[in-house]
Amino acid sequence: MQAQHLISISDLTKEEILLILKKAAVLKKKSSSQLLQGSILASCFFDPSTRTRLSFEAAMLRLGGSVISVSDKSSTSLQKGESLYDTIRVISGYADIIVLRHPMEGAARLAASASCIPIINAGDGANQHPSQTLLDLFSIQECQGRLDELKIACVGDLKYGRTVHSLALACSLFNIRLYFVSPEQLSLPDAIVQQLKMRGVNFSFHSSVEELVGKVDVLYMTRLQKERFEEGEYKAKDGRFSITLRGLQGAKKNLRILHPLPRVDEVDLLIDTTPFAYYFEQAKNGLFVREALLAFLLKG
Ligand code: CP
Repeated sequence: MQAQHLISISDLTKEEILLILKKAAVLKKKSSSQLLQGSILASCFFDPSTRTRLSFEAAMLRLGGSVISVSDKSSTSLQKGESLYDTIRVISGYADIIVLRHPMEGAARLAASASCIPIINAGDGANQHPSQTLLDLFSIQECQGRLDELKIACVGDLKYGRTVHSLALACSLFNIRLYFVSPEQLSLPDAIVQQLKMRGVNFSFHSSVEELVGKVDVLYMTRLQKERFEEGEYKAKDGRFSITLRGLQGAKKNLRILHPLPRVDEVDLLIDTTPFAYYFEQAKNGLFVREALLAFLLKG
């Protein structure tokens, strides 16, 4: 039987996404289980991570499984010139599922072609981060009580922000109005814009978050992905793409701020203790959603 991979959020149907979110809600109420006893997760992170790596590993352990991991390319034989294809092909003989983060766009797709076990794309360069999208959707549903009839503003670096790429595509499955707020140089890639148009999504572009604060249900903040910038690409430090407590005057009562994290300076620390802040609960939800995802891919 061919393994089911999660490379792009578009690999899942709306029904499958809703099933995973429903399972995650059940798992959030439970302390742990033995659902994946005997299964081994290979956690392969060739790019830095805190939340994704540790929540996937904790998720597997909480479901009774085991984890083998690499968190540094220099400790693997990639350093000696082995290809990613060969590396994944070999690791797929040691584990039941692989979670892969890699700086190269398309790395997860390449890994899937080498692997006879499921690959989860935990971020491939600036391309996609589908498991983040599942926890984003779970958190939106949790804080708003629904996934339809919502207005969401995605703010920050929309060019290199892979979480926004995946989230925007997922939102097309629901009746969600999208607002994209970014510096012109860091706007949403045309490939995503074209897909949203084809799917009939209602969206618009803006140059300041403040003009939207009174309108939207969710502010999805992102940091500038400076590590991916080309030389001299974008230098300005611009308050139009960050949010302060004062900037939230006039916000809807139900407004919640999400952020995939890490945060740099785009969300004022003073917001953390207000009911608007949902980003730490969102990060915690990563654990339950990733438990549900592992169970879905390994047990169906
Ligand atoms: N949101 C996210 O991917 O965080 P990490 O880079 O810490 O995994």
